[in-house]
Amino acid sequence: MTTLALFPTLIYTARLSGNGWPQFNRQLLRECKQLQIDDTAGQRWSRKNYPGGFTSYNSACRMHTLSPTFALLERKLNRHVSSYVKSLQLDLANRQLSMTDCWVNIMPQGVVHGLHLHPLSTISGTYYVQTPKGCSTIKLEDPRLDRFMAAPPRKADCDAENKPWYHVVAEAGKIVLFESWLRHEVAPNPVATERVSISFNYSWF
Ligand code: NI
Repeated sequence: MTTLALFPTLIYTARLSGNGWPQFNRQLLRECKQLQIDDTAGQRWSRKNYPGGFTSYNSACRMHTLSPTFALLERKLNRHVSSYVKSLQLDLANRQLSMTDCWVNIMPQGVVHGLHLHPLSTISGTYYVQTPKGCSTIKLEDPRLDRFMAAPPRKADCDAENKPWYHVVAEAGKIVLFESWLRHEVAPNPVATERVSISFNYSWF
């Protein structure tokens, strides 16, 4: 008898390597905070679409082309995206997968990032810059959830691959990669210190 595990959803996590990452991370944090001050279009957009927080998603959304520090982050991330592509066994022989968007998210206490996915992209992810103790996780949703008609609940202690949701803990220096169709959300930040992250998309067209 055989039970196959088919159609997997692969999630890649890693930490930025090298002794220099704390300094690099501090520089990223400085630039994120400076962008929050300088990006008036982003402030306007955030007031309407990201209440209480700041995101440059709709304004400075190609930070890797604007800042050498973010460009260096892109180069560091490329290596991880390549590993992830190997795990996914994507055939990219005649197409290049490259970073298309890269933006900043600053979440003070109570700020939420509702359930969403990243259209027009192949691989998406987040790099965590500042993660105060107890800050929100990123919650990933089983992409088949809307098809689970009358299914019994899973056992409370079931394996990670059978859970309908999975929480990845946010830690400074950590990279999370997922396929862009995967829905995810960040619950309201429960702690007083800002949670700061950099999100990005890679596309092959
Ligand atoms: Ni997202």
